[in-house]
Amino acid sequence: MAVFLGIDVGTSGTKTLVVQEDGAILASASAEYPLSSPKPGWSEQNPADWWEAVQNSVRKAVKSAKIKPADVGAIGLTGQMHGSVFLDKQNQVIRPAILWNDQRTAEECAEIEKRAGGRSKLIELVANPALTGFTAPKVLWLRKNEPKNYDRTAHLLLPKDYVRFCLTGEFATDVSDASGTLLLDVRKRQWCKPLLEKLDLKAGILPTVFESEEVTGKLTDAAAKALGLAKGIPVVAGGGDQAAGAVGNGVVKRGIISATLGTSGVVFAHSDEVQIDPQGRVHTFCHAVRDKWHVMGVVLSAGGSLQWYRNQLAEAEVTAAKRLKTDPYSLITEQASEAPTGCEGLFFLPYLTGERTPHADPNARGAWIGLSLRHGRAHLIRSVMEGATYAMRDCLEIVNELKIPIREIRVSGGGARSEFWRQMQADIYGRRVMTINASEGPAYGAALLAAAGAGAYKSVVEACSAAISLTGSTDPLAEAKRVYGKSYPVFQRLYRTLKPDFEEIARLVKEI
Ligand code: XUL
Repeated sequence: MAVFLGIDVGTSGTKTLVVQEDGAILASASAEYPLSSPKPGWSEQNPADWWEAVQNSVRKAVKSAKIKPADVGAIGLTGQMHGSVFLDKQNQVIRPAILWNDQRTAEECAEIEKRAGGRSKLIELVANPALTGFTAPKVLWLRKNEPKNYDRTAHLLLPKDYVRFCLTGEFATDVSDASGTLLLDVRKRQWCKPLLEKLDLKAGILPTVFESEEVTGKLTDAAAKALGLAKGIPVVAGGGDQAAGAVGNGVVKRGIISATLGTSGVVFAHSDEVQIDPQGRVHTFCHAVRDKWHVMGVVLSAGGSLQWYRNQLAEAEVTAAKRLKTDPYSLITEQASEAPTGCEGLFFLPYLTGERTPHADPNARGAWIGLSLRHGRAHLIRSVMEGATYAMRDCLEIVNELKIPIREIRVSGGGARSEFWRQMQADIYGRRVMTINASEGPAYGAALLAAAGAGAYKSVVEACSAAISLTGSTDPLAEAKRVYGKSYPVFQRLYRTLKPDFEEIARLVKEI
């Protein structure tokens, strides 16, 4: 049976999965790398670190899967979206890549909107508003702040596509990742020439765009030697981490939605048509499924808020967990279950790193509101989890508003592994949530894309049907649904009330 590699070039490391044609996972290996923040709000990585991590993780995974290099039928790539890799004419990296979570480009976002003829016109052209993390503003930043580097730029690549260049020598990308550059005509699934002209950017620096399961090139001799694989293995286009993650969760049909609670929280809805939010609160990108799209809401600090609690306020639980050889999160959530549903009026706003959906506000901040003497640690923890889950509901509400059917919500990530948080999700969404047999996310989706591209399946949808199945369901409890139904509008109102104060606080922090 042929095997396929899925390679996920993530933010903290690269993960390689070896997946059999029938979807069974034979091995997984990772290699980490650092992230640098040379100035506040900046976030950069060295593309050479990605390539080294790819070599290490592929070698480790292939070894532990005990397969022969000739068994590998195809390779699929995925990774962190929106990052910018600048290469010169000799294909050398010019400067460190600027990543998706970098916040330096507020001025450039305003410039893009202006040059496009306003925010609505921009949304008309590329389906999305300009956000600081997206790629196009980074290119404008380079032009303004590092003009010599800009003049030398001959190629602009996304992170996984730099790895593709190392593997195949080709400059290529896929429609889902290209959507996050803000330079793709998402409707037509090709670069948006009118916007490129308005921004005065050379189209020649952009890679060729492919559908996700299409073969973009073959493993070169040098790359095959570096990875310990055979020359000529096809490399498919793959997808951005969210679209590939959706393939890995089987979110490839109308009515299926995923709610993934990791550090960030993502609500991802498959769509048969291009559905654009005129207010730009959710992203509309091409899906990794041919001629399909997706709408996505991103909560920047969902599980990240609980992570913050663990790091800053849960020393006792972390120490106890070490002693008991257990996961600190299980002790933390055990405490949360002691507080009542709705936390007796205590709310937590999870905007620790600003927010994307629905507020698109880098100045939004976290807050506990409603504290009283009655509230103890259990309430604090539970309110953090409830706040993150209300923020996920914000995303679901917009999907619903856009009339995208919500027939099945598949939960994944850390928030799906905890039975307590799964129940809370069902109660706060007011809907049944489902679990599935796959938990490897983007790397698994990339391997399925490779399997479809190599012809092991007729389509990506067929690959998902063969590999992914439902394993369980959690229904909302009537009383909890009632309590959350009453509390959620208060959560929504709190941001609106505090927005001017968040702006004032941001000004204050700059001043002092
Ligand atoms: C998606 C996004 C993140 C990054 C990093 O819009 O910003 O998913 O791709 O994981």
